[in-house]
Amino acid sequence: MVSVEFLKELPKCEHHLHLEGTLEPDLLFPLAERNHITLPQTFPQTVTELNEKYKSFRDLQDFLDYYYIGTNVLIKEEDFFDLAWAYFQKVHKQGLVHAEVFYDPQSHTSRGVTIETVTLGFQRACAKAQSELGISSKLIMCLLRHIEPEECLQTVKDAKKFIEDGTISGLGLDSAERPFPPNLFIECYETAKSYNKDLQLTAHAGEEGSAQFVADALDLLNVTRIDHGINSIHDAELIQRLASEQIMLTVCPLSNVKLQVVKSVKELPLQEFLDNNVPFSLNSDDPAYFGGYILDNYIQVSKDFPDWNYGTWGRIAKNAINGSWCDSKRKHEL
Ligand code: HPA
Ligand code: ZN
Repeated sequence: MVSVEFLKELPKCEHHLHLEGTLEPDLLFPLAERNHITLPQTFPQTVTELNEKYKSFRDLQDFLDYYYIGTNVLIKEEDFFDLAWAYFQKVHKQGLVHAEVFYDPQSHTSRGVTIETVTLGFQRACAKAQSELGISSKLIMCLLRHIEPEECLQTVKDAKKFIEDGTISGLGLDSAERPFPPNLFIECYETAKSYNKDLQLTAHAGEEGSAQFVADALDLLNVTRIDHGINSIHDAELIQRLASEQIMLTVCPLSNVKLQVVKSVKELPLQEFLDNNVPFSLNSDDPAYFGGYILDNYIQVSKDFPDWNYGTWGRIAKNAINGSWCDSKRKHEL
């Protein structure tokens, strides 16, 4: 097994992180107080109680119910800045060099917080991470798939200026997967792409959903990356395709265990992906909820795949750099 020190020093890229999922209980409660937000009575009322709840979730929906309540404490541009800046400071110490991060404007606009407030707060933290920590980053706007497609299309239109000027580098799709297949969002993806041909496209697929959702995201939404994607393993033809088109899967090991997608990290088809030349990166998803940031995910995988040597880890780090959306000059630096 490789050493923790080696994993820490390895230049790491994050491709699957929801900024709202970095809201630690010890920031959530002070923000609630600062913004005079009363949390529902059914919601844990102390840091200890909330940490206790975060120890286990029944499934994706059980987690999402808490996650969306948590977002209610974020109101001002400063809140979004503070949240993302706290994240960047934390992962800087874990050897993160590049981050492509998700956010969900609709969790905030539905409460009267403007898309400008959210986007500019996060963007300011990204700029500070670059200038003070040397971490490069990209913002990926996600659409919440449980919201009506027409409303999602309006969100895309509301984000037009940020897509045009490159503040938003990518479009993604998250929230409850199974009842809301990719085909519902074709127009959203086409419209967003029409605003900027350089907009990158990705989507959550194959987390709780089937391999067919992965194929549909590729065929119907024209994504070039898949978030999670682990259920692709059940379709041999799809595995061949992911390898030949070099579609990267952004795998989230600790998340998959916490949301009971798998019983243990050992069950993830990571060795099969390596053997079949399917590129993947290792990511943290919602670290405040799932008990670990990027390095914690790397360490857990190293424990559960003890045969992987320095060469294997070097290959994983290289695949993560290659699959990033930064330009070739930055890739070379990484
Ligand atoms: N899946 C779907 N939606 C999400 C997730 C996830 O892992 N995290 C935050 N929103
Ligand atoms: Zn996710």
